[in-house]
Amino acid sequence: MGDDGQSRGISCAVYPGSFDPITFGHVNIVKRALKIFDRIIVAVAINTSKHGTFTIEERVDMMEDVFRGDANVEVASFSGLLVDYVRTVGARAILRGIRTVTDFDYEFQMALANKSLDPDVEQVFMMTEGKYLYHSSSIIKEIVSLGGAVHEMLPPIVEKRLSEKLRGRGTGS
Ligand code: PNS
Repeated sequence: MGDDGQSRGISCAVYPGSFDPITFGHVNIVKRALKIFDRIIVAVAINTSKHGTFTIEERVDMMEDVFRGDANVEVASFSGLLVDYVRTVGARAILRGIRTVTDFDYEFQMALANKSLDPDVEQVFMMTEGKYLYHSSSIIKEIVSLGGAVHEMLPPIVEKRLSEKLRGRGTGS
């Protein structure tokens, strides 16, 4: 441990995303990142040009439920530039998960853009665990809308709300 004060400070990362809705893959990234950071802010990006399945309030509500037992996880939403939000909340890093090479291309572009916008903000990428490789919110939504089971992909509260939203009823579980 150095004596510069930094090593004793609280390290906080912002985990941004659409989270429409949050999946077990996202939750896994947060849990693993808590071994590296003291505090994670899971932040839903408000994108006025992108109409999601859930409203921002619904997404935040479900995420608060999912992370209720995690004192070091905060759920929030933000608009505008991510790097500005990171600075506003006093975080040191942006956290993102990567599943595939396609993800990597997209993440690499965003990372370069963020770095040029604010060179002081670091970006940390965690590889997904194998079992979450094919879990994307859009694939999960298609499975639910066609009546498939997604117990292994979504927290129960999210599965129920998604089923109600897409099929007009709960899962019965
Ligand atoms: O879950 P997603 O949709 O892949 O998340 C993308 C997100 C929200 C991280 C990205 O769109 C973002 O950072 N939006 C905030 C606006 C911004 O800062 N854009 C410039 C950098 S790409």
